[in-house]
Amino acid sequence: MAADQEKVTRFLGRVVADGGAAMAGLCTSIGDRLGIYAAMAGAGPLTPTQLAVRTGLHERYLREWLAAQVAGEYVRYDPTTDGYLLPDEHAAVLADPTAPTYAAGLFTMLQALYGAEEALVEAFRTGSGVGWEQHGEALFAGTAKFFRPGYAGALVPEWIPAMNGTEQRLREGAEVADVGCGYGYSTMLMAQAYPASRFHGFDFHRPSVEAARRIAVEQELSDRVTFEVAGAQDFPGEGYDLITFFDCLHDMGDPGSALHHAEHALAPDGACMIVEPNVSPDVRANANPIGRAVVSASVAVCLPCALAQHGPQAMGNHAGEEAMRRMADGAGLHHWRLAAESPLNRVYAASR
Ligand SMILES: C[S@@+](CC[C@H](N)C(=O)[O-])C[C@H]1O[C@@H](n2cnc3c(N)ncnc32)[C@H](O)[C@@H]1O
Repeated sequence: MAADQEKVTRFLGRVVADGGAAMAGLCTSIGDRLGIYAAMAGAGPLTPTQLAVRTGLHERYLREWLAAQVAGEYVRYDPTTDGYLLPDEHAAVLADPTAPTYAAGLFTMLQALYGAEEALVEAFRTGSGVGWEQHGEALFAGTAKFFRPGYAGALVPEWIPAMNGTEQRLREGAEVADVGCGYGYSTMLMAQAYPASRFHGFDFHRPSVEAARRIAVEQELSDRVTFEVAGAQDFPGEGYDLITFFDCLHDMGDPGSALHHAEHALAPDGACMIVEPNVSPDVRANANPIGRAVVSASVAVCLPCALAQHGPQAMGNHAGEEAMRRMADGAGLHHWRLAAESPLNRVYAASR
């Protein structure tokens, strides 16, 4: 085997860069959790001492953290003033959880995923699953935190209007089920926008349902939102005008039965909204930053979560539109349409 040394060196550089990014991710998570980015946002250049005063954190740690941020080009440094600056454009991605561009939730998820390595190694050997509930709380909170900005930016302004007729029904007063709702941010974004409607979030993971209930109380939405522990194949109620699945259908061991149950629970002219990652079933097409992150998450979370449910199907998160459409058709949802799209998600409308 005669490897081309130039290509070896180039690829070594790529892997070292990836390792550096993975190492730096811990610093990003710490900066997010401790509010360091938030303290730097809009503050202009700060010395480590000034940042320590603003955050109540230890100056020596902050100086080290800032050096790492400069090395990653997240923060700019001016040696003449010892000033560290978080540019406004970077603050929009790292400092403000309400910004549609906020992406720090990814690093909260990573904390849980790196912690799942032992369980995953064992699962690769045995073929068994790793259930959603086997992960640490950082996965549940991180998933919610990661997906929320995308939903906040597009769900009400773009995705619901793209579901023919649904927006009008929600304005007038509709019944909505949000299946696999996790912390329920999708449910609550809809509830805030359509006060005449009633929203029912379901998830089989009790701690997530409890978190969703707490957030609903904080947001004063308890009059129109409920959260219950229920599986996708047997959640209660019927006559729903809209049933949503946000980034969860592919995590289920029997997504076909989940859609079948949804079809039974829909009102006569109701519709399902199925939100899935925007990745391709052609593995070569996912060689880009989003594709890489999403498909890697499939290895760590989505596929093992589905396998742990011992269903007939463990799809992974990149089975693609055609596989989803066929499954919906088999469940009696014969009308299928790509309703909307974002860099991270594809939004399908499915109805009888
Ligand atoms: C990736 S998370 C998405 C959560 C939420 N929809 C969001 O977008 O933030 C997947 C969710 O599906 C839930 N889930 C997985 N399998 C399920 C099943 N069979 N029945 C109900 N919920 C399920 C998990 O508990 C988890 O909350």
